[in-house]
Amino acid sequence: MTAIDVRNLTKCFSPQSPFRRLIRRNRDIVAVDNISFSVDDGEIFALLGPNGAGKTTTLKILTTLLKPTSGHARVAGFDVVSERDAVRKKIGIVFQESSLDLRLTGRENLDFHARMYGLSSVERKRRTEEVLKLVDMEEYADVLVSKYSGGMRRRLEIARGFIHHPEVLFLDEPTLGLDVHTRRRIWTFIKKLNEEENITILLTTHYIEEADFLCSRVAIMQNGKIIAIDEPEKLKNNVKEDIVMIIFGNSEDYIVENTLKMFSELNYVHDIIRENNTIMLKVEHADMHIAEIIEIARISGLEINSVNFRKPSLEDVFIELTGKPILDTQLSCIRHQ
Ligand SMILES: Nc1ncnc2c1ncn2[C@@H]1O[C@H](COP(=O)(O)OP(=O)(O)OP(=O)(O)O)[C@@H](O)[C@H]1O
Ligand SMILES: [Mg+2]
Repeated sequence: MTAIDVRNLTKCFSPQSPFRRLIRRNRDIVAVDNISFSVDDGEIFALLGPNGAGKTTTLKILTTLLKPTSGHARVAGFDVVSERDAVRKKIGIVFQESSLDLRLTGRENLDFHARMYGLSSVERKRRTEEVLKLVDMEEYADVLVSKYSGGMRRRLEIARGFIHHPEVLFLDEPTLGLDVHTRRRIWTFIKKLNEEENITILLTTHYIEEADFLCSRVAIMQNGKIIAIDEPEKLKNNVKEDIVMIIFGNSEDYIVENTLKMFSELNYVHDIIRENNTIMLKVEHADMHIAEIIEIARISGLEINSVNFRKPSLEDVFIELTGKPILDTQLSCIRHQ
């Protein structure tokens, strides 16, 4: 069954300037631009994109916090505009900005939320223990949240998001600003939650690895539009070239030049970049050609320190589609804001 169904969804915002009447080119901001996608029951689905791509706005519409300008969306079978209350009963949300009560303990935060969703006292107690266990937070349940680290707060928020047995859980940037170790830990909880509680999860992220590791399908967003949507592996398969990196030791310039010239004559090498002691080649089917590449480097006298090749990442997919890395796009968004 379809857990989320989005058809031609658009959201425009009016510029907020106090001088808007005086500004001639007073155009609306199109935060979400005619997007359509659907998420099946039990999927972990990501909206991946740089700052300002429209991820949070989409999520706010799907969780009934914003009304769309046009288009339709159904969550757990209900329309997000005309059946708002029914949608709210079926979902859990973890916002991009933390919304825990710092003056309460972890357990109290969970209990308060469970009361709001009408869980009985017995059910609240049972469920609190269950969700605390799932995110590995039993030890800290009775500590004030103001004393928690960023990672602990995020884990508690995720626990709170699903304490009332939602069918669909929305996670807005679940690991934003956390270190790599904590991020990985949260990924395991999200996977476990999806498998053990059979919850459909839609998350937004601008971390490439997060989308790649966690999600069955990914929609890449930019400027309010979905520019690609598929399973991570299939998206990566669309990028034809693999990346081969050769790191060499001290070699005479003429030897390096000669090696580069020989590489450039190979029809399966599409691009060559040299930076100091590193040569990067974009190679079609590197697995078939890696032996020949190493042999050429060896014959031409290059002192090879290491050779490795990797399949394209979702970052390479983003570059192929937009011409720049996701981080550059983020920086230029920040500069334009
Ligand atoms: N309430 C609002 N009023 C006016 N413009 C808004 C409003 N909310 C969002 N926007 C604009 O809509 C665009 C999309 O914003 P959104 O927050 O959805 O992006 P995002 O992909 O979640 O970005 P981030 O990764 O930074 O969280 C941005 O240009 C933003 O400035
Ligand atoms: Mg956002």
